[in-house]
Amino acid sequence: MSTTQIKTFEEYQEAYKRSVEDPEGFWADIAETFTWRKKWDKVLEWNFEEPDVKWFKGGKMNITENCLDRHLKTRGNKLALIWESNDPKERFVRFTYKELHERVCQFANVLKNNGAKKGDRICIYMPMIPELAIAVLACARIGAVHSVVFGGFSAAAMADRINDAQCSMVLTADGLNRGAKQIPVKRVVNEALQTCPSVERVIVVERLGWAVQMVEGRDVWYHDEVKKVGKDCPAEEMDAEDMLFILYTSGSTGKPKGVVHTCGGYMVYAQYSFCNVFQIEESDIYWCTADIGWITGHTYLLYGPLLSGTTTVMFEGIPTYPDPGRFWQVVDKFGVSVFYTAPTAIRSLMAAGEDHVLSYSLDSVRVLGSVGEPINEEAWYWYHLHVGKDRCPVVDTWWQTETGGIMISTMANVTPMKPSHAGLPLPGVQPILIDSDGNELTENEVEGYLCMKFPWPGMIRTTYGDHERCRLSYFSTYKGLYFTGDGAKRDKDGLYRIIGRVDDVINVSGHRFGTAEIEEAINHNKDVIESAVVGYPHDVKGQGIYAFVICNEIPENADHLRAEIVETVVSKIGKIAKPDKIQVVSGLPKTRSGKIMRRILRKVAEGDTSNLGDTSTLLDPDVVTEIVEGAL
Ligand code: WTA
Repeated sequence: MSTTQIKTFEEYQEAYKRSVEDPEGFWADIAETFTWRKKWDKVLEWNFEEPDVKWFKGGKMNITENCLDRHLKTRGNKLALIWESNDPKERFVRFTYKELHERVCQFANVLKNNGAKKGDRICIYMPMIPELAIAVLACARIGAVHSVVFGGFSAAAMADRINDAQCSMVLTADGLNRGAKQIPVKRVVNEALQTCPSVERVIVVERLGWAVQMVEGRDVWYHDEVKKVGKDCPAEEMDAEDMLFILYTSGSTGKPKGVVHTCGGYMVYAQYSFCNVFQIEESDIYWCTADIGWITGHTYLLYGPLLSGTTTVMFEGIPTYPDPGRFWQVVDKFGVSVFYTAPTAIRSLMAAGEDHVLSYSLDSVRVLGSVGEPINEEAWYWYHLHVGKDRCPVVDTWWQTETGGIMISTMANVTPMKPSHAGLPLPGVQPILIDSDGNELTENEVEGYLCMKFPWPGMIRTTYGDHERCRLSYFSTYKGLYFTGDGAKRDKDGLYRIIGRVDDVINVSGHRFGTAEIEEAINHNKDVIESAVVGYPHDVKGQGIYAFVICNEIPENADHLRAEIVETVVSKIGKIAKPDKIQVVSGLPKTRSGKIMRRILRKVAEGDTSNLGDTSTLLDPDVVTEIVEGAL
């Protein structure tokens, strides 16, 4: 459907070759297919030392003109967004491109009327309701930088993110529906804002109709504000390298960092990767189940599909409510043809039994996608057989918050597909594997650290407010390369298989947490002196969180202590970071220099204590025996 869509393996090979030999020409041709107010002066300027990366330098545009305005003539009455409620009995809501355009313009006017302007940072903490999608686009329309914080984060986590970005506004709702539960979102915002002096205005969307505490002079209701504005809002002219959004993500050290994406390159990359990986057709009904609070929701629920003029489905609920057939019921209901979800969801539905999926036809499905963590073969085959009925390709898409879009993935029916393998890199993506001595592995059938040797338009530009942190995190491990933090294998045909993180990042149900971040939260508990957190294989979540904690004194009631520790983590980070196992220990395995030997803890957590390796260099080898005996 898109003029830049590759259709055959030969075309892929040609495009790939060109993208390496003439990257500027390759990306310029793709960028030409968008609406620019002013064309760029230079396609690419870069170095990975500082790092300093600029795509489409001097180009002027607005991403919402490309998501909405440019479709009005040809697709004005086509559905842009279908919203499905958490409650299967509540009627779904549909927006044509024309209607969505109007709603975005209105919301943009509300933002302006409340003092927001280009360059301001706006925190969005909202449930998966249409207003969330509209709010994100409204920010982009006026050139304000959106920082969406996932609704599962706690007040403390939200406050950290608001303060880091110095947000002047928060967009939220009274509450949210999640399965059988209702959660008082506004109360969490109120708590967070006690420590956020930069926030001057809070705009609240009514979802549950709850009475909530509104702060006079600061908080306003969206439904009151929208009455005061018109439906026209010309898009702000943005430079290609102006900031589009910040999205916080965890790394191996310190607090989560604000990954910064810019307007032009992100736009081009989101659309190009979307239409090529999923081989999108004009008639597709496309559904990405990710929350907009994560990068997958940004790029492949919202921007990628709208940039391509596709109909995108947004779902408020969870896969298991009211029963584990919900996804499939929604697929049949809307005739979803391309379905994109996470391995953790597949595994949880797999565990609920085949009956739930077998009772739906799923005839409309054409392409399936997976994202967020390595998909194990069992889940891959289940997905392929029961959802794809053995006829739909499964694209296993590897990428990161920092990459902005899919980097390594099968392109449906175009490039080779192999279970549990992401496959070949997209055109324009130049991955390399590095061995433990820092040398490039040029052969096939090798395993190493996954890096990128050339920029791509969707890549991270900086970490908000701290460029040095960006350099240290991604560009300093291997000189002249972007380091992903992942390990990968390359098979005899050049297909990549991602093994997982090689740093201290745990991937729980596709959500990233730094072990240090969880330890810091645990250590806030008054009874805890020190802790060490590691990941271990978990049947549904991919990885579970195993915490070893040292306490002031041996607790009388270990269950009580565990509950308190969980409570601390929930309040510091959110429910999504709850430790699965907490073992109280009297000491941790440390080297003489005081470094925790996580290798040993990981083995204990995995239940593999037959070979713990050399423990003689430990300060106190006896502590290992105690830990092994007390393992959960
Ligand atoms: C992991 C999510 C294997 C990986 C888009 C990466 C994957 C981290 C895959 C980024 C995949 C994501 N196969 N591993 N298809 N997709 N990952 O920033 O470890 O939330 O570094 O971005 O998830 O997570 P993030």
